[in-house]
Amino acid sequence: MIRAEISGTFESWRTQARSYLFDEVKPQLIDWADSNDDQGTLLELFQTTEHQNKLSQPVHSSTHRVPVEFIQRAEIVSAHRDTGRWALLYRMLWRLTHGEAHLLDMSIDPDVSLFDSYFRLVRRDMHKMKAFVRFKEMKDPKSGEIYYTAWYRPDYNIVRLVAPFFARRFASMKWSILTEDQSAYWDTVQLTYTAGVPRSRAETQDQTESLWKTYYSSIFNPARIKLRAMSKELPKRYWATLPETEVIRELLRDSPARLQDFYHRQTPSAERWLPPPSKSPQDKQSQWNDLRKAAQLCQACGICENATQAVFGEGPLDAKIVIIGEQPGDQEDRKGRPFMGPAGQLLDQALMEAGIDRSQIYLTNAVKHFKWKPQGKLRLHQRPSSGEISACKPWFLREMQIIRPEILICLGASAAQSVLGKQIKLADARGQAWKTQWTDQTWVTIHPSAILRTSTPDTQAQEYERLVQDLKSAVALG
Ligand code: URA
Repeated sequence: MIRAEISGTFESWRTQARSYLFDEVKPQLIDWADSNDDQGTLLELFQTTEHQNKLSQPVHSSTHRVPVEFIQRAEIVSAHRDTGRWALLYRMLWRLTHGEAHLLDMSIDPDVSLFDSYFRLVRRDMHKMKAFVRFKEMKDPKSGEIYYTAWYRPDYNIVRLVAPFFARRFASMKWSILTEDQSAYWDTVQLTYTAGVPRSRAETQDQTESLWKTYYSSIFNPARIKLRAMSKELPKRYWATLPETEVIRELLRDSPARLQDFYHRQTPSAERWLPPPSKSPQDKQSQWNDLRKAAQLCQACGICENATQAVFGEGPLDAKIVIIGEQPGDQEDRKGRPFMGPAGQLLDQALMEAGIDRSQIYLTNAVKHFKWKPQGKLRLHQRPSSGEISACKPWFLREMQIIRPEILICLGASAAQSVLGKQIKLADARGQAWKTQWTDQTWVTIHPSAILRTSTPDTQAQEYERLVQDLKSAVALG
């Protein structure tokens, strides 16, 4: 039996796992254990994660290929507190590379089922931490420098997973997030991790509670206040670290007035996540690359929280035809490419019948993240709201500035709403060319998913035929 001691980080497991895999060491021969020396030291304050990662590059590089999805999820699972998680991850890695390439699809397999449930639990905890961490302003007594600090108690060991999110969001502030497991420091340039601290040591100064209360009052959405749901979502133990819970009672008192006011102020938009407009507009490819990269960081609306990634448009940047759908679905969310699932397959078939070559068109979506709700093991599609569609529109506007299509085809009401800027009835809007800021050949037709949802094979066949006809009309007249 080999004893493999992991220093608590996923990178450390990954390095060792690669090496064992390279040497074909079977899972049952390894005794994985936490070495507990990842608590950090003062010395570590001066080291970046990148530096540590470089130090721990694998000695061997394995020739085995594993799905990126496994690695991404495994990193999240590694934050679970089950001491058996490293063994579980290696067992799955072994199976994926030894004849079970589709293991992740076998949700009833005991390893996969445990892996999936740990993934969900940790993801939820990450989501909570992003929502509930509250910083307080602190002042260095010697230098007078201002920095921010927060104490938080996550269920799992997620500091390293969530700290990069705060580094992006509060990039220009110096801050630390302290937990009992581990602490993260951001100095506006690099992230550093050190040992955890008990709460009693974390709270030494108290200047900003009132700031938080003011901030919370201004973002408070009375329409969302359901006290029972709130205490379920936000268990009492979080309340102690949230100064704004003290002001909720007061805020509720003048709720109706606030409600009015709130909707007027609430205009989420992806605008602030857009990269600056390019100085050399002729370089379409690099503009598009920057745009696509920036979309991965977008948090304009809440959808991104549960999505795996932003799914950006794809296709030739000089395409004459752009087709816009509603939002990525389950498979698109996993693969990072539009129209890859059942609706995409139906669209491919319809395009072929209409004589349109998919490789010559640019395909995109009105909303770039997958909005879903869980139902058992399934991720059920949820229609994006009008606010979410308009929040996401800046990405589409930039895509259109680059591509400048001659023909623009909207699949379904959400896409049409984004493009035409108003809610429409599909039946009224299809069968005619609309004039928009991009082209007077803007068309609206049914979304392939709507065809898949129709109840009888006959209606399905009719609707499909109409889709093909609509596509033909759009390209014939365009
Ligand atoms: N439905 C869409 O609207 N877009 C996709 O990318 C997939 C399904």
